[in-house]
Amino acid sequence: MYNEEKLRRKEITETTMNKRRTSESPRNSRSTRASQQVRKSRTQYSSGNPGSFRDSRGSRCSGSLQKPMNKRRQEKLRRQRRKRNLCYGILAAITLLVFSLTVLGISRLLPDRVRDGAEQVSEDSGTQVTTTLSQPEMNASGTKDFFKEITLRGWQSDSQGIRYIAADGTSYGKGWHDIDGSQYYFDENGYVKTGWHVIDGKDCYFDESGKYDSEKVRPMIALTFDDGPGKYTEELLECLEENNAKATFFMLGQNAERYPNTVKHMEKLGMELANHTYDHPILTNLSSTQISNEIEKTSRIIERIAGKAPASMRPPGGAFNHTVRSVSGLPIIMWSIDTKDWKTKSEDMTYRCVMDNARDGSVVLMHDIHQWSAKAAIRMIPELVAKGFKLVTVEELARAKGITLENGKAYYYFGEGTQQVE
Ligand code: NI
Repeated sequence: MYNEEKLRRKEITETTMNKRRTSESPRNSRSTRASQQVRKSRTQYSSGNPGSFRDSRGSRCSGSLQKPMNKRRQEKLRRQRRKRNLCYGILAAITLLVFSLTVLGISRLLPDRVRDGAEQVSEDSGTQVTTTLSQPEMNASGTKDFFKEITLRGWQSDSQGIRYIAADGTSYGKGWHDIDGSQYYFDENGYVKTGWHVIDGKDCYFDESGKYDSEKVRPMIALTFDDGPGKYTEELLECLEENNAKATFFMLGQNAERYPNTVKHMEKLGMELANHTYDHPILTNLSSTQISNEIEKTSRIIERIAGKAPASMRPPGGAFNHTVRSVSGLPIIMWSIDTKDWKTKSEDMTYRCVMDNARDGSVVLMHDIHQWSAKAAIRMIPELVAKGFKLVTVEELARAKGITLENGKAYYYFGEGTQQVE
């Protein structure tokens, strides 16, 4: 009972002190909480074992209240320390995270270029053509140069094409070069050729990366122009020359006499000069002598102008019979694609007809005396070349297909299977 009295007194003293403390410092609300805990503890004490009690955390306390208070202060200090340590920990973690992200960012930026550079040098097969890497915008120009130095190895691509920079930093000069078992042909600026090219007289195909494909056979077609020459023929010749293309002109003797310079120009450009009679009669209506005169006269005119006689003929209207065959004295060249340009009088339809039907071995019929036909031809020639066609003369086409043209025999098409576009 004495102890109880003593405790109550102490509690009163403590409560007073706590109240004072609370009024002095409103921040010290923990002290209030502490006194409440004491009260709670006391309740436990009064109802339990009188010799000892447990505080709210269950730690055993001695009879003195000063000790729990010290403990609480220590506990408070510990909490503060934990809190501080936690703050430091979070700060360290954030710093580490930021640092890691920075390193990761730089490493992603750097090795990409370093790796690409290495790949370009070591794995420089034709299919591994890589585009020029755009240089990252950086403040330090030294770093920029460093990247540039790394990327300037192996395959490079720019607006002019694809080139190869050897390990010593030089690009290949004009000609054939073997890189990793594949053949490439470089132009004078060190860029690889792509698509079809005639190299040393041979058609060579290079894929998109510039790799030579010896298996690829170039499709060939023969554009033929009848009834000229005419006033649009020169323009057409220019276009053919520009595109390194050839064509066959089935000329009327009377028009060759009218445009001798054009005939000469044709010969100079390597076009085929062919016979379409003197004044375009339907030969099947003529006698053998008349047929022979029409053809002979024209051949002599062309030979006189160009120094070379025609090696083939085409009967006007495509009309021939046994007599024409036997007296022509030349192979008879017909066609596999009839543009019907004379009938449609349409540049678009003429153009479309050829673009839609041209295939290896095709012989195309057009007339260079019509403006729409000349325009259609000028439009289609570069496009046919771009599509991979080689535009050749009938003579060249036959030779390329291993066909020997025979006098009096009619030819329509030189490709696989048959073709007859009307
Ligand atoms: Ni004709």
